[in-house]
Amino acid sequence: MAKLLKLMALGLALAFLGERFVTFRRRMNVSHQVLPVEPPSCHLIQGLDRGGAVFLYVVNHPRGMSTVEIFEFQGDALLHLKTITHELLSSVNDIVVLGQERFYATNDHYFTGHFLSQLELFLDLQWTNVVYYSPDEVKEVASGLGFANGIALSPDRKHVYVAAVTAHSIHVMERHNDWRLTPQKVLHVGTLVDNLSVDPATGDVWAGCHPNGMKLLAYDPADPPGSEVLRIRNILSPRPAVSTVYANNGSVLQGSTVAAVHGHKMLVGTVFHKALCCDLRAPGGPPRK
Ligand SMILES: *[C@@H]1O[C@H](CO)[C@@H](O)[C@H](O)[C@H]1NC(C)=O
Ligand SMILES: *[C@@H]1O[C@H](CO)[C@@H](O)[C@H](O)[C@H]1NC(C)=O
Ligand SMILES: *[C@@H]1O[C@H](CO)[C@@H](O)[C@H](O)[C@H]1NC(C)=O
Repeated sequence: MAKLLKLMALGLALAFLGERFVTFRRRMNVSHQVLPVEPPSCHLIQGLDRGGAVFLYVVNHPRGMSTVEIFEFQGDALLHLKTITHELLSSVNDIVVLGQERFYATNDHYFTGHFLSQLELFLDLQWTNVVYYSPDEVKEVASGLGFANGIALSPDRKHVYVAAVTAHSIHVMERHNDWRLTPQKVLHVGTLVDNLSVDPATGDVWAGCHPNGMKLLAYDPADPPGSEVLRIRNILSPRPAVSTVYANNGSVLQGSTVAAVHGHKMLVGTVFHKALCCDLRAPGGPPRK
């Protein structure tokens, strides 16, 4: 009797699975003409088009030198592909990748040593430049910048933004087909601009800034450096709108260096402290139900 019950149960289970399988096939068997529907701003994510390959470029300073290391993500692993060095890339601060093994680098072309570069900072010598690197051509494309640091591209890739830390400004440059840059304007923001990012959806420039540089250089835990994030809308227009999206005296976040947004989320990174994630939709805290 027990055996019969078991057999019946198995039969029922198989019948159920068979029915599920047929239904599944029917549900999956959809085929109709695809008519395009596109929200106004859709774009393919760059860097994902070589068979899914994603690359990571890292500025490295082994023994006071500067190299750019190229890695490829392979699943969870990182594969080191290449080390780039060049005499024009003597003291690289940051880069923006333009294509395969092609980038602009902000670079301090005289001093690689810590002491001399601090001296350069102290004397406010505007000796940093922007270098274009590609496997077949390397050249200086901008010069005379006050401690060029963060560098970013506009979404249409026609403009390049460079943060000049000690000049408290963001340089807007036009990019030409031969990768030359010509200065277009300088936006003074009155704070030490560190790194930049551009929101690909809006073109807004986001700047991680240091509201008190001396506190950053001479760190005192009792009186720590603060953080500041600026958002610059319409940077190419005659009247860009600069707003402070985040500011803190160091009690929460110290030494903000970069802010990047994705949709309504903002991530703020720091030189040596924590990282912060903010929801930009909710100025007074989480949205009320
Ligand atoms: C899928 O649907 C088409 C027509 O809608 C039909 O001709 C075909 O036999 C179906 N295939 C399966 C596996 O059910
Ligand atoms: C600067 O910000 C960009 C995002 O625009 C980021 O990819 C890059 O790693 C940052 N560089 C440094 C040195 O923090
Ligand atoms: C920093 O800000 C916090 C909160 O806003 C405040 O409680 C604290 O007194 C401030 N510290 C200084 C040194 O101003």
